[in-house]
Amino acid sequence: MSRRLLVTGGAGFIGANFVHHWCQTYPEDRIVVLDALTYAGNRENLAAVESRENFQFIYGDICDRSLVDHILAAEEIDAIAHFAAESHVDRSILGPGAFVQTNVVGTFTLLEAFRQHWQNAGKPEAYRFLHVSTDEVYGSLGPNDPSFSETTPYAPNSPYSASKAGSDHLVRAYYHTYQLPTIITNCSNNYGAYQFPEKLIPLMCIHILMGKQLPVYGDGKNVRDWLYVNDHCRALDVVINRGTPGETYNIGGNNEVENISLVQNLCQIMDELSPNLPVSPAANLITFVKDRPGHDRRYAINANKLTTELGWTPSVTITTGLRLTVEWYLQNRDWWEPLLSEEYQAYYWQNYVASTIKT
Ligand code: NAD
Ligand code: TYD
Repeated sequence: MSRRLLVTGGAGFIGANFVHHWCQTYPEDRIVVLDALTYAGNRENLAAVESRENFQFIYGDICDRSLVDHILAAEEIDAIAHFAAESHVDRSILGPGAFVQTNVVGTFTLLEAFRQHWQNAGKPEAYRFLHVSTDEVYGSLGPNDPSFSETTPYAPNSPYSASKAGSDHLVRAYYHTYQLPTIITNCSNNYGAYQFPEKLIPLMCIHILMGKQLPVYGDGKNVRDWLYVNDHCRALDVVINRGTPGETYNIGGNNEVENISLVQNLCQIMDELSPNLPVSPAANLITFVKDRPGHDRRYAINANKLTTELGWTPSVTITTGLRLTVEWYLQNRDWWEPLLSEEYQAYYWQNYVASTIKT
């Protein structure tokens, strides 16, 4: 069966990788991207698919109910892959309002519109609402705690994770109350091509290339579980096509790494791949800076359900994935340089400089 898929947030990091994956895997399917092109959205990310006949980009906000209604009806959408979100923890600490608006109100708007659309179509069983969420909703783990499973109680600690948790609860409620065929995925930290420079891995790659300090929060011993973005997209594909409505699936890479060792690893790869760095060895740039308020210590995902029930496993090791990612940032200077805009500099100053000035 060919699909007519609405991808929200398709001009962002994971959304764009997902669109590329879907267009390559299912060239007959119709893809409509709805994206508000916030600072994190970039139409360049979709340049390779823009000219396809069965691709359409629509500039707009997921909170705009009449626009969403119009798209669902006019495009005869049968599945939504919902990526659109405010996604950066540090920005959620500086300004939580946008996170509640897009992540909670925006998800609610999509759910209401999709419920109406699904009812109008006679509640087809094949319709899907895939809600792409994060492992951060489960809170923080101690060093010996078992990794997060689908039944771990929610305990979000940042405005970002709290807003994602709120949206997850709404999605869950729409299945239980209305039987709307929703599925939730909770994934660990992604990395790969097209990730906005504010996130740890691109920030470090770009700073190494520019000879700028590499700001490591706190003692650098916070642990994240890293997954190559293409593997996340493969998992979402499996879940849309074979996942069970009403279920949650955790997605993770089985790659727990302390931040400091990840940064050291990136420095080594850069030293090797880029012989003319402004500062060499790049590790000389590592600087420990003030910790993020409420910084979660450890995330780890147990993805056994996805593996056992749907047969998904990650295909790229962290060694290969990091090298591919570094190569991508080395080869795509034209992509990231324009993103270091005034808005970005202002954010950078507020997050990394202003917070350390004593008044
Ligand atoms: P991103 O910040 O790179 O992209 C978000 C996209 O959403 C942008 O294109 C932006 O323009 C768009 N957007 C924002 N507000 C919008 C609105 N109101 N209406 C329409 N479009 C809007 O985010 P990402 O890293 O690609 O994350 C995508 C999703 O995956 C998010 O829901 C996030 O919570 C989740 N997630 C991310 C990670 C990660 O490591 N990045 C891990 C797990 C889950
Ligand atoms: P990030 O990429 O922001 O993802 P998240 O906070 O959603 O896990 O950060 C990953 C880890 O890296 C997190 O523990 C915070 C840390 N970090 C730094 O040490 N320095 C930085 O400049 C950034 C952006 C993150």
